[in-house]
Amino acid sequence: MIVAVDGPTASGKGTIAKAISSHFGLPHLDTGLLYRAVGRQCALNGGDPDDSADALAATKFADGLLQDPELRSEVSGGLASRVSLHPAVRQALFDRQRSFALRPGGAVLDGRDIGTVIAPDAQVKLFVTASVDARARRRFLEMQQQGRPTTLADIAADLAERDARDRERSDAPLRAASDSILLDTSDLEREAAVAAAIDLVRSKV
Ligand code: C5P
Repeated sequence: MIVAVDGPTASGKGTIAKAISSHFGLPHLDTGLLYRAVGRQCALNGGDPDDSADALAATKFADGLLQDPELRSEVSGGLASRVSLHPAVRQALFDRQRSFALRPGGAVLDGRDIGTVIAPDAQVKLFVTASVDARARRRFLEMQQQGRPTTLADIAADLAERDARDRERSDAPLRAASDSILLDTSDLEREAAVAAAIDLVRSKV
């Protein structure tokens, strides 16, 4: 069973994917982390994230980088959204994601293009959304807990900018697959969102 969980930043898709993973005993790949690692590696190389060749060179990051807490920062998220625009970068990360999806026992992947590009054959596709306000509030609390200074207004502006970039890019834009199930988490607490997602998966298998 392949479960694809797509949606914009801070929609709750990561939390939902992790919960599905532990509930159904499926391995989980957070594909955003791969793009964040490319963005961070590009910065560490002194490269330009808007330059396709620099961004492509950064796809050769060491796996250890995936453990770097800096990848969770807003700066890394912004860099990720810039390097992810380059088709060469998306292509370079394709095989790794596709092989994960094809693990014999099944898998859960979360990202932006799992249901449309990486695993169009997924048995279950969830598209998780929430209003910009709800997402900004969640991300703000998360940043506060991590001791990263920021403001709600900065986060909301950053989210809107990243949403626009992810939705408007020509290669693998963020959009719901036609056969996906929409889950709006704006008014749901974490536990309710997770329970709803697990019920949806169960109803499909
Ligand atoms: O999900 P997360 O916020 O970690 O993703 C960071 C950025 O990586 C996104 O804004 C998006 O531009 C990019 N991304 C992508 N395709 C994916 C996952 C993430 O383009 N499958």
